[in-house]
Amino acid sequence: MIEELKNLETEAERELAALADPQLLQELKVKYLGRKGLFATVTAEIAHLTSDQKRAAGQEMNRVKRALEELFAAKEKGLGSSDFSIQAIDTTMPGTYPAAGALHPLTRVIGETAAIFQRLGFFTEDGDEVEDERHNFSALNIPLDPPARDSFDTFYLASVPGQPPRLLRSQTSTVQIRAMERIGEPPIKIIAPGKVYRPDATDATHSFMFHQIEGLMVDEGVSFAHLKGVLYAWAREFFGPKAKLRFRPHFFPFTEPSAEIDVWWEGRGWLEILGAGMVHPNVLRAVKIDPEKYTGFAFGMGVERLAMLKYGVEDIRHFFENDVRFLGQFRG
Ligand code: PHE
Repeated sequence: MIEELKNLETEAERELAALADPQLLQELKVKYLGRKGLFATVTAEIAHLTSDQKRAAGQEMNRVKRALEELFAAKEKGLGSSDFSIQAIDTTMPGTYPAAGALHPLTRVIGETAAIFQRLGFFTEDGDEVEDERHNFSALNIPLDPPARDSFDTFYLASVPGQPPRLLRSQTSTVQIRAMERIGEPPIKIIAPGKVYRPDATDATHSFMFHQIEGLMVDEGVSFAHLKGVLYAWAREFFGPKAKLRFRPHFFPFTEPSAEIDVWWEGRGWLEILGAGMVHPNVLRAVKIDPEKYTGFAFGMGVERLAMLKYGVEDIRHFFENDVRFLGQFRG
């Protein structure tokens, strides 16, 4: 056993001398001095020795144990391994990146559209989501009596005694009125993106909240041709240079004439994307703009609808569920 202990010591010295990695030092220490290590294995034999042999073996055992401990302690010191500095910083390792976010698809549609109209000279106007009846209805030439207003189903806020009714706007056309009131004298060229609310049952194509982008241009001599030109300029940038538009006669109380407009989508046919028309003289009168002097056009497009067409999204609810598996597809 004494012989084996000596061999153990020499072997440990040799292995330690060859070792340079602080992490492996711990493994080596376990190999020699661990509870089931080589030292423990060799010295277990002491039980089979005579008491004379035991004395000599015991002395050697203590000596080798101390020698090993000192060897390891010296090596640890040499490698600086017994403290945190063993985790030396490797500057060549790739860093840890924070997870990068991405713009929501609706934000992208609004941003792209706003950028196109900005280049055509339109300012982006902001409006409130809580509105009064004047801005959502009457100034837009929508009479307040039930049959007319019923086609614009609307969420009303709980009424406050002595105060005019408040509602969640059901269209961004409210911002037409707000902008004309604020700016006063034409020329007025604005777009107004934002949320609107309607008490619709939710399904794949309906949501009680969705987004619209309103457009309004009022100036001397503005005609339907300007409306067509501006919408074509937008559609060709937004859908591609081959985009075609179709204007179908329609009715809106705040425009006359009015049209619903479809875009031609290769392989899918005509798809309705917006409503538009020439601003009704009554709307101009409501904001004290002279309809003899000025004319204008207005349009309103559904943002979810545009995003669904552009990105091939089948269900409007995806936009509001905030599932990163959906949203993560709109990077870059
Ligand atoms: N406000 C109309 C809607 O929500 C859209 C529209 C806007 C139509 C402007 C004509 C002019 O359906």
